[in-house]
Amino acid sequence: MPEFPEVPMNLVKPKEPVIGKVVGSETCLKGGRKSAGFVRHVAIDVSGTPLEGQLYPGQSFGIVPPGEDENGKPHKVRLYSLASPSWGEDGEGKVISTTPKRVIDEFTSQKDGDDESCHELFLGVCSNYICDAKVGDEVQVCGPNGKRFLLPVDRNAHDYVFMATGTGIAPFRSMCMELFDHPDGPTSSQVHLVMGSPYESDLLYDDLFRGYAEKHDNFHYHTAISRGANKQYVHGLVESQWEDVFNPVLSSERGLLYMCGLIGMQFGVYQLLGERGLSDDYMEIKDELQGVPVSDWDRETMRRYIRPSERMMVEVY
Ligand code: FAD
Ligand code: A2P
Repeated sequence: MPEFPEVPMNLVKPKEPVIGKVVGSETCLKGGRKSAGFVRHVAIDVSGTPLEGQLYPGQSFGIVPPGEDENGKPHKVRLYSLASPSWGEDGEGKVISTTPKRVIDEFTSQKDGDDESCHELFLGVCSNYICDAKVGDEVQVCGPNGKRFLLPVDRNAHDYVFMATGTGIAPFRSMCMELFDHPDGPTSSQVHLVMGSPYESDLLYDDLFRGYAEKHDNFHYHTAISRGANKQYVHGLVESQWEDVFNPVLSSERGLLYMCGLIGMQFGVYQLLGERGLSDDYMEIKDELQGVPVSDWDRETMRRYIRPSERMMVEVY
């Protein structure tokens, strides 16, 4: 069984955030300005704060946007996954980074009482705040958060399947850098990264991952494009290459599975693991679902009765 490290948590509370300074902000979409969405790689200098050198791949940190919500209360903290390795963007843990996507849409009713006829522009508060921030701007940060989505202590004792949709790639940038650019040398483990995007132009950090694939025989980069000619979701891609590529890693005792991104992805993956006889390796299935054929698992039952085991790390939002 994998052993995971103890990591620092909540060194800085959301009510008393510290000041970081934006030191970099650039698009990280393959298509750049030709993509329909807006996703940036934002680097924040936290030197001299309790966060310096204290964030680990798989953790997230909080950003507290300035101003008040519609009830006149200070805006709540939003979490963003760490995209940098433990040594930071700068090699010294002083500069952390993340991958914010602008939430930009037409207003749609979310709850009882919302105006059904309203279709005004809807802008997410914090994602747009942090994407707007310019180099030199100060931002309020806190954290670290999360202790369940981490690389194991002995990184070479395991092989990895990383599955991401959209900005769910952020922790895998961090983890791949940790595994392949480590001062002790690159990992000897097999690492498969499966990235799901609507279009090729929406792929994130694509150059970085293609670079790793060219340089390291043990790094494998797979892309699942959902709206292209050959429509595919992440679990569909894994299924289509099950026998040759994914089964050997996942059915080995060394295999660890990480998933980050849209909540819907986990259900497709749970079903696939169930169909392929790997339920016991990656999931704890409660009595209510024991013996129920996988074809009868629906989202609600999976949500209620399946928990990831120690070999599966899930971060969905
Ligand atoms: P908000 O102002 O909070 O608006 C979003 C809310 O508005 C939704 O929850 C919904 O209730 C409502 N809403 C949504 N669409 C509409 C609409 N069309 N009309 C009306 N109401 C609507 N995000 C990233 O981009 N990158 C990351 O790396 C990242 N990592 C995360 C890690 C963790 C552990 C978690 C929990 C979340 C992460 N997120 C990440 C999500 C992030 O925390 C924010 O939720 C996201 O950026 C949206 O925040 P916002 O303030 O821009 O939007
Ligand atoms: P689609 O939106 O075409 O249905 P982004 O965050 O950049 O929008 O990307 C999210 C990606 O995840 C899209 O390709 C989206 O496809 C895909 N996706 C949506 N629902 C699921 C699901 N249930 N399982 C896996 N991937 C999904």
